[in-house]
Amino acid sequence: MMLEQLETLHQQAKQAIEGVTDSAALSEWEGQYLGKKGSLTTFLRGVGQLPKEERAVFGQRANVVKDDLTAAYESRATLIKEQMLARDLEEGEIDVTLPGRPVASGKLHPANQTLRQIYAIWADMGFQVFRTREVEDDETNFELLNIPQHHPARDMWDTFHTTAPGIILRTHTSPGQIHAMRRYAPGPLRVILPGMCYRYEQISARKEIQFNQVEGIAVGTNIRLTDLKGTMTAFLQRMFGADRRVRFRGSYFPFTEPSMEVDVECILCNGTGCAVCKYTGWLEILGSGMIHPTVLRNGGYDPTIYSGFAFGMGPERIAMLQHAITDIRYFWGNDTRFLEQF
Ligand code: FA5
Repeated sequence: MMLEQLETLHQQAKQAIEGVTDSAALSEWEGQYLGKKGSLTTFLRGVGQLPKEERAVFGQRANVVKDDLTAAYESRATLIKEQMLARDLEEGEIDVTLPGRPVASGKLHPANQTLRQIYAIWADMGFQVFRTREVEDDETNFELLNIPQHHPARDMWDTFHTTAPGIILRTHTSPGQIHAMRRYAPGPLRVILPGMCYRYEQISARKEIQFNQVEGIAVGTNIRLTDLKGTMTAFLQRMFGADRRVRFRGSYFPFTEPSMEVDVECILCNGTGCAVCKYTGWLEILGSGMIHPTVLRNGGYDPTIYSGFAFGMGPERIAMLQHAITDIRYFWGNDTRFLEQF
């Protein structure tokens, strides 16, 4: 009777293990039949109730069944392991012919890209870079440039003051003119003065409180307005295209006389009129002029012998035109969605 039950259990267990395909099901099967609380184990505990003479036969048979199930368990475990390995290899298969993923590398900021273009053109024309301080004194930023205290032209440059009296953040790169002239006078001078400027302004799509300027200055014994016009035209045509038209408009700056603002034909619509040039066909690019005699004298040159021209431009505004960027605030926003486009 017990022997029959043992055979039935044996059959059941063998059948059940055929349907086991993963290790979770296998350990469940083990628990059910071979484990401490498994049915075979429980069943074998009943041996004691058998009459003595049957015990030996039953015990022998039970051991055979147990060994058989243990062997079945082990071979199933090996099978499952092999299948899992095969599946892993298949799923994790590496296609060595696939192109590699590109490694994202850093890039120059769009303002710096435009700055470098500007430097390269001026370098070709013989202007070297001369850097001067961003924290200036009022005297160099204004007074030596012919803008005395209370002069109405000071309103053109809203100023960040520091807690030290007379010390400000430069509002333009023009104070660099004084530093450069004092460094080279009375010799000839041909430099660009790039750098960061600061203005206490209402931030808008076209105005930031922090922006770059590139100033330029040439001083010599025979520099005339025609040199200024020719040099500006040469620069702008290299920057924006050889056929690009350039025009000069009379303007006012306290440190140049005469003063001119320079426009180029709109680089987006080629002069036909669009929203960027406000349908005028022209874009204002820089301010310029012949250096005022007072400023030359402040720089250490005798204005009866020397003359020169100066100009100043905003590279962010130029980059905006080059890339049709609609808002200057993107430049310092550090949003990678913006920066990655350049
Ligand atoms: C000046 O600052 C004069 N120093 C330029 C100059 C130099 C004239 C030498 C004559 C001789 P202006 O304020 O227009 O001029 O500024 C020059 C350029 O700086 C502008 O055309 C513009 O491109 C840029 N700029 C001025 N203010 C801002 C601002 N808030 N945000 C971004 N760019 C600005």
